[in-house]
Amino acid sequence: MTKRGYPGLFLSFEGTDGSGKSTQMRMLIERLRRDGLTVVENQEPGATHIGRQIRRILLDPAHQEMAGMTELLLMFASRAQAAAEIIRPALERGDIVVSDRFTDSTLAYQGEGRGIGFDAVLAAHKLALGDLLPDLTICMTIDVETGLGRAHKRNSTSDEQDNEARLDQQSLDFHHRVAEGYRKIARLEPGRLRLVPGEGEPAIVAERVWLEVAPVLGKR
Ligand code: TMP
Repeated sequence: MTKRGYPGLFLSFEGTDGSGKSTQMRMLIERLRRDGLTVVENQEPGATHIGRQIRRILLDPAHQEMAGMTELLLMFASRAQAAAEIIRPALERGDIVVSDRFTDSTLAYQGEGRGIGFDAVLAAHKLALGDLLPDLTICMTIDVETGLGRAHKRNSTSDEQDNEARLDQQSLDFHHRVAEGYRKIARLEPGRLRLVPGEGEPAIVAERVWLEVAPVLGKR
């Protein structure tokens, strides 16, 4: 049983767009499952039926007028639903939850990127999720321009509905602020949020990720 009062383990992946976080998350999940562990996946925004509808509203390029606070509250609406349907039940069963983004994304994108500030994001988190936070967060870092190049390449070759999504179309300055947001969280919570360089072959990056995850698994 962890200090948070559930037997499971909550891991999340973070990073600026094109940082390789989704690839690394997939590789980690495969490794954990090969080791016989039960892993439940979460994606934000999305994952639940209600969350997928919220994701469509958030990423729709037609919604240029969306206010920063609307964006923030929709992120938490999706997250509160995921916590109720997916995350809390899995942690109570003793499973490992791996979440593709969580509140650190809102701190970085809306708090720092949009300039809403960390305090408002943390207040919304408290209301929507109480004290639910990952036990460990892997934050993939990459040069912002390199990451955006990767993300645009992926978008132009994928037929996903959120192709060229609204949030990917923000200015370079915005993405630099997001990266600074993550560095700020790492300074505030160095024990929980670990910055992992995303440059290099995926297998080499996966070893960097494993070095962070293995000690936490051992403590369960
Ligand atoms: P994804 O590309 O990792 O699926 O994330 C979708 C986009 O949503 C991405 O540009 C980051 C953004 N986002 C926020 O702005 N705030 C949040 O709280 C979350 C979870 C995602």
